[in-house]
Amino acid sequence: MTGKRIALVTGGNRGIGFETCRQLAHAGLEVFLASRQRGEGEQAAQQLQAHGFAVKPLQLDVSDSDSVARCLAGLARSGVEIDVLINNAGVYPTTPITDASEQEFALALQVNLLGAWRMAKAVFPGMLQRGYGRIVNVSSGLGQMNQPGGPGAGVYGISKAALNALTLELANAARGDIKVNAMDPGWVATRMGGRGAPRKPEEASITIIWLATLPPDGPNGGFFLDKRPLEW
Ligand SMILES: NC(=O)c1ccc[n+]([C@@H]2O[C@H](COP(=O)([O-])OP(=O)(O)OC[C@H]3O[C@@H](n4cnc5c(N)ncnc54)[C@H](OP(=O)(O)O)[C@@H]3O)[C@@H](O)[C@H]2O)c1
Repeated sequence: MTGKRIALVTGGNRGIGFETCRQLAHAGLEVFLASRQRGEGEQAAQQLQAHGFAVKPLQLDVSDSDSVARCLAGLARSGVEIDVLINNAGVYPTTPITDASEQEFALALQVNLLGAWRMAKAVFPGMLQRGYGRIVNVSSGLGQMNQPGGPGAGVYGISKAALNALTLELANAARGDIKVNAMDPGWVATRMGGRGAPRKPEEASITIIWLATLPPDGPNGGFFLDKRPLEW
């Protein structure tokens, strides 16, 4: 391989996504920082560019198939092929399943499940053609099925359990040097995790970077926390 690997991080403007952009760029990848709000993505990318990192902003709403198509078409027109996809964008509606509105449930699935699927579907053919790809789905321990009572946190947990199932489906479809894995960041101090969370985005992103840069003999179709396998 000549040239830098190219990565795209969804929800890259803040939290774990922003730190993941920083660590990927630090590891030598060219990074597209995708954000739902154009201005926030530009600001976030500028912060990283100021430190000399190769990070470019992109507008992308993963819940909108037109936005995904526009974004990928724009990249293709510029000759950009995505080697590494980090499906990080997420929403956190935790309403118990018997109280949730149809709107809340639909939003959790639109962003956390279908958003990741749309993005993977868009980049997968190119990865198959080039015989290389890394997809990291930022999931959650709340999606684990082996916990007493199954997934926790209402519609959010269900959306992450489904994201884990998507990870396995994609991993089964992988050929050549393509690897699709899911990870649990743990409880992290971000807008989603709240200030009281014990972990920093830096700690969570280490495992994302590891999965994004796995060697050819690395795992495919796994679920990890701090680089250690987790039960589904
Ligand atoms: N923090 C935790 O404790 C924790 C634990 C387990 C798993 N996770 C997972 O880690 C990931 C990152 O979470 P975080 O803690 O960094 O949360 P965060 O600070 O709330 O960031 C969420 C990101 O997702 C973006 N986003 C939401 N809907 C989107 C959409 N439709 N299209 C594109 N981007 C969208 C947000 O964009 P806007 O700024 O425009 O809203 C923001 O950039 C999520 O998938 C989350 O479920 C977090």
